[in-house]
Amino acid sequence: MRKNPLVEQIEHLRAEIRRHDFLYYVKNAPEISDREYDRLFARLGELEAKHPELVTPDSPTQRVSERPIEGFAQAAHRVPMLSIDNTYNEGELRKFDQRVAKGLEGAAYDYVVEPKIDGLAISLMYEHGRLVRGATRGDGRTGDDVTANIRTIRSIPLHLKDNTIPAELEVRGEVFMSLLAFAELNRQRQDAGEPLFANPRNAAAGSLKLLDARITAQRKLSFYAYSLGYCSESFAPTHWQALEHFKTLGLPVNPGTECAADIDEVLEICHRWEDKKQSLDYQIDGLVVKINRFDQRDILGSTGRAPRWCIAYKFAAEQAETVVESIAVQVGKSGILTPVANLKPVKLAGTTVKRASLHNFDLLQKLDVRCGDTVVIEKAGEIIPQVVKVVQKQRRLFESEPFAVPTRCPACGGEVKKDETGVYLRCINVQCPAQLKERLEYFVGKNQMDIEKLGPALIEQLVKKGLVKNFADIYTLDVFKLSQLERMGTKSAENIIDGIEASKTRPLWRLIAALGIRNVGGQSAQILAEEFGSLEALMKAEAARLEAIDQIGPVMAQSIVEYFQDPANRKVIKGLLAAGVKPTPPKQKASTVLAGQTFVITGTLSQSRSDIEQLIKDHGGKVSSSVSKKTSYVIAGENAGSKLDKARTLNVKVLDEKEFFQILKPSRDSDR
Ligand code: IVH
Repeated sequence: MRKNPLVEQIEHLRAEIRRHDFLYYVKNAPEISDREYDRLFARLGELEAKHPELVTPDSPTQRVSERPIEGFAQAAHRVPMLSIDNTYNEGELRKFDQRVAKGLEGAAYDYVVEPKIDGLAISLMYEHGRLVRGATRGDGRTGDDVTANIRTIRSIPLHLKDNTIPAELEVRGEVFMSLLAFAELNRQRQDAGEPLFANPRNAAAGSLKLLDARITAQRKLSFYAYSLGYCSESFAPTHWQALEHFKTLGLPVNPGTECAADIDEVLEICHRWEDKKQSLDYQIDGLVVKINRFDQRDILGSTGRAPRWCIAYKFAAEQAETVVESIAVQVGKSGILTPVANLKPVKLAGTTVKRASLHNFDLLQKLDVRCGDTVVIEKAGEIIPQVVKVVQKQRRLFESEPFAVPTRCPACGGEVKKDETGVYLRCINVQCPAQLKERLEYFVGKNQMDIEKLGPALIEQLVKKGLVKNFADIYTLDVFKLSQLERMGTKSAENIIDGIEASKTRPLWRLIAALGIRNVGGQSAQILAEEFGSLEALMKAEAARLEAIDQIGPVMAQSIVEYFQDPANRKVIKGLLAAGVKPTPPKQKASTVLAGQTFVITGTLSQSRSDIEQLIKDHGGKVSSSVSKKTSYVIAGENAGSKLDKARTLNVKVLDEKEFFQILKPSRDSDR
């Protein structure tokens, strides 16, 4: 028997919402905008309100969302972490205010308005002022214990300041990534041949859910506290005072937070932020409007999902409509295939957009974007334009067909496979000319071997003609070979050969970076060059040896080992060295007296800190910014603070400046 259509519709909505919850909270790969999600949710809410007999305990309206990811310990929230209902215009905001007024039965009330940062909600538990746990929101009742990762965020105090610290305090706030840090991270990922993050929120979420906190530490996450979760003692009568109290405890609070006496002031603030949001170095998707007094919040209470004393005012995302002229598939240097929509040029948020990323083929299929379609594009993180949806699908041309997911690489016809994340398609042919071209472009790039005259057009010809099949072949080029190329005079050919010649003695780290080993960017290459001193030594390194290096995690170590194990790569390196590539090793150390020792410098010293750091490095030692059991010495100057305290607690040896120079002395004498 067929099910009642209403039941079917409700079940369908629930299934859709659950799927989007999973994509958003667990996979960090949402497929629809918040607004569309809200629409689905509102539709389900409406139907359930009309037919309460059809509400089931497992409906998404009856709880917050799906389960957290596996791999972290579970962290139960003492007080549930609720969500916030959204509004998109003045009318909806005024309706919220009317509900509040009704709920408070004529009593006076005021609001606090805060920027709504698009990041991740986090709960921080402090016991006697010490950070003991950091947890994600998860399903609102239980999240992931991400303490190790949270500890790496510089703006989160590990110890609270002030002498009146509550025994137990749970602070909530948003972890996010600034636009600058996001752009830098994506640049590094591009260099390392890794898929890019679509927006700062995904980048922050991805960084916080890494199992290796050392990688999180490099991700430059930020934090603002925005609510009191729980306190064993009375903390403050109002939200505003709680935020002030947070500040005295050393917790960061968004300086854009404002008080509003009534809904008119709230609206004025909201309108002001429509423009002001552009001036921020992080992404906000709206404002959060909260009743100030805690006793009034208690009176208003909450629904299962969201409190009645709080509402979000969401800005409309900057969108534009345009036509898809074609869909191309790009092959990156590590073989990742990315669909890209070539668009009829359109103005969006101050720039002309001609192309938009479709990110991956799952998304392309889901959106069903086809050539000739009219699409809505949006700037995610105000940086990368992306296709949000197709409009007027019914007006498509009769012949229009769904874009076929490539089963072979568009450049070489080779086999493609899903990568380890299951989201991206990768061409696995190591000889693929498109990959080779990308890799060669990277190899000769400004930040790597810096062969200025060897541009993309030339590389394309060299690859096509089979003159260059790997990095080593670049060094076998001569004026004769080059003159076979189109529009190539003898003078230009000579200049190119000079450029290639000059690159032979680039610093070792540049050559390491140029190889394009997965996960190894310029900074890591410098560390590796310092540590190993030659390509030959690096090639022999085992994973454990690599992992022992500060700032090299297991993932990077594995990529390096795999790269050098591959016979094809070894052959190319042999070829490079045979062709006369002789990278300049890092500066010789003045001595190795400090080899294997890690130093932390704190307080004010008579010499500049960077001079002392250089001295330590010149003598083979390492400098770290935080004290741990692995620290060999803390060099403490005047007014040394918490690092000195920590050194004492951990029994790490403390030196003053004079004692430090004593340690250096034998080598300094022998230097003479
Ligand atoms: S208050 C019950 N304040 O928005 C209220 N949330 O869409 C709990 N968010 O999960 C949250 N900025 O991750 C609050 N100033 C702010 C916020 C904020 C961003 C996030 C938070 C929350 C989500 C709800």
